[in-house]
Amino acid sequence: MDGNGRWAKARGLPRTAGHRRGVEAVREAVRTAADLRIPYLTLFAFSSENWNRPAEEVRDLMGLLKLFIRRDLADLHKEGVRVRVIGARDNLAADIRALLEEAESLTRDNTNMTVVVAFNYGARDEVARAMRRIAEKLASGDVSIEELSVETLDQHLDTAGIPDPDLIIRTSGELRLSNFLLWQAAYSEFAFLPCLWPDFDRKTFQDVVEEFATRDRRFGGISREIAS
Ligand code: FPP
Repeated sequence: MDGNGRWAKARGLPRTAGHRRGVEAVREAVRTAADLRIPYLTLFAFSSENWNRPAEEVRDLMGLLKLFIRRDLADLHKEGVRVRVIGARDNLAADIRALLEEAESLTRDNTNMTVVVAFNYGARDEVARAMRRIAEKLASGDVSIEELSVETLDQHLDTAGIPDPDLIIRTSGELRLSNFLLWQAAYSEFAFLPCLWPDFDRKTFQDVVEEFATRDRRFGGISREIAS
């Protein structure tokens, strides 16, 4: 969800105003995904590297997440949305941790769609934390070295049980993955859009999904058309 700062700057507004508009775009994206019957939508809301931003902006982003959960959780629950949160929890403030846990436990049994919020998330950090959990099991003898496989890592990542992303969309014209779902993106399709995140509306989302549906995904194999 890149480009909030530039959206604000272009209007002579503070960066925080861009993030606020970004939350509006989040709401519209969740509604659109639900209407398009997209079963999983992951939103990169705060990266483990975003702590390097000015303290005021970090405070504002934390505040926006709290506000979003307080204001929107009941609606999401009513719509049958399950909320999952990925990212490190231990260095978050206690009130944020509690809210994230509340969002997950309240919506645990919902089945219409899953919204995954990547908060304090970095893919390398996620892999390192998974590695530690696996090492603990190796040390205790719960897992043997011979058993270690692709599935072992899959099952110990924050995304355990969540399918790999089919499509990763990055707004604002940047052509980078920026430490997002590095392991899970092995066969993902990418869409790099010029529009800034606050301008990412229903039509933009629909258009990109429509274009994605025309792609020939081979997963290392050959095209279905050639095979038949
Ligand atoms: C990147 O734009 C955006 C972020 C670091 C924050 C994204 C957060 C939200 C949209 C709000 C909180 C999310 C939820 C789920 C409630 P940027 O600031 O890097 O923009 P720039 O590159 O133009 O400076």
